[in-house]
Amino acid sequence: MSNDKYSLQKSMYRQVTDKDLFHQTHKYAMDYLDNVFDREVYPSEGSLAKLEAFDTAIPESRGDAAQIIKLLHENGSPNTVAQLGGRYFGFVNGSALPVTLAAKQLATFYDQNAGMTVISPLAAKLEEVVIRWLQMLFGLPTSTAVGFVSGTASANICGLAAARHRLLLNQGWNVNKRGLQGAPQLRVVAGKEIHATIFKALAILGLGHDIIEWVDVDDQGRLMVEKLPQLDDRTIVILQAGNVNSGSFDPFDEICDLAARTGSWVHIDGAFGLWAQTSGELRHLTKGIEKAHSWSVDAHKTLNAPYDSGIAMCVDEEAMGSALHMTGAYIMSEGGREGLYFTPEMSRRARIIELWAALKYLGRAGIDELVYGLHQRALQFAGQIGTVHGLNVPNEVCFNQVLLHCSSDELTVRLMEQVQQLRTCWVGGSSWKGRKVIRVSVCSWATTESDITRAVASFDQALKMITS
Ligand SMILES: Cc1ncc(COP(=O)(O)O)c(C=O)c1O
Repeated sequence: MSNDKYSLQKSMYRQVTDKDLFHQTHKYAMDYLDNVFDREVYPSEGSLAKLEAFDTAIPESRGDAAQIIKLLHENGSPNTVAQLGGRYFGFVNGSALPVTLAAKQLATFYDQNAGMTVISPLAAKLEEVVIRWLQMLFGLPTSTAVGFVSGTASANICGLAAARHRLLLNQGWNVNKRGLQGAPQLRVVAGKEIHATIFKALAILGLGHDIIEWVDVDDQGRLMVEKLPQLDDRTIVILQAGNVNSGSFDPFDEICDLAARTGSWVHIDGAFGLWAQTSGELRHLTKGIEKAHSWSVDAHKTLNAPYDSGIAMCVDEEAMGSALHMTGAYIMSEGGREGLYFTPEMSRRARIIELWAALKYLGRAGIDELVYGLHQRALQFAGQIGTVHGLNVPNEVCFNQVLLHCSSDELTVRLMEQVQQLRTCWVGGSSWKGRKVIRVSVCSWATTESDITRAVASFDQALKMITS
């Protein structure tokens, strides 16, 4: 240890004044950007072995900042997946628009906590502005309250917490004060294809999985209206805009009307699909969403904002604000935007900066072009892959998701693994209607027609390799 008790602080001040650390880091980042669009989509075995470089004991003493960043670049950069580029089709992971990366780079140095206006006037202002834009883009009431969270998993918790709060309050029960023990029984009605994060939310909220009254779905995973049980004013109906496999959309219009007549609450999980509302050609898929009570959607998927960026929206501001409310002697509100009333967290990074930049850059026309473009590339993929002998597409490509399978489950899995090994693109697996499928999610602004053609050629090559 140094004898100078301010030695650590002095060293760090030197880093911010001479800025070499940041210039070097910027250079690494630019090198990364130069390569990421054309490199292999997944790290090679050789690269993955380099991850061992991180396997050290906690250092006893202070390190060298420049060496630490160098270590990160040399061993970390090659071990990322090239999600920014145009041939990553895994899960439903978006890329990031260049303007959002630039905004994020600047915001890194702001290091803002978006919890309250008094902590970050900038974050509060941008949240207010973006809330108005989102209400308009999704066609939601201007009273819609919004929380900026880490993703749809978290946004689902917020929406369902608001639902639980309101429906119980309507029964004369304040769940914040009294908890769930002895509370009036609520009901949850959902289609058999809901996303796994809904289970997570129901468990966290103390409602449990067994509460779900399952409703049959059609061959695309859409909830069948005629199979709905009788709804009532103790029921939460959970719908989805964008099935994580097929990409299909539930019939919101009819179900929301039924719910309105019975006093039920409708929550829509619209992680990637809610954005269909912003495209003139695709808006028919989201017809009626404005009649629901709460919605969750990601900015880090279809909109291509950087991770992590989810949005929780609720037309019942009082229910959402009460469900997520917190107080403390030092929480002084002067009536401005207090984001912490609409999120589970108190402190959180100002992810609104990148979201604002994405919307400001694209504008309504650009968002439409982006979203519709993903659909067109998905159609192109389905069309081209359909010509490869032995591959079938079992879903209607209504949005950005394409499923495919071979003649047997075993062949499908082997094909997926072979495509992954070729590394021209990356796709994951799933199950659909009792069969193994390969799931292709077109979710990047960077995907060009030629990326799709290259990906299809890689499938063709992989299929030949495993069948010859
Ligand atoms: C329909 C649906 N809901 C929820 C989620 C979870 O979203 P996140 O990973 O942003 O929490 C996903 C993720 O793909 C999804 O497709």
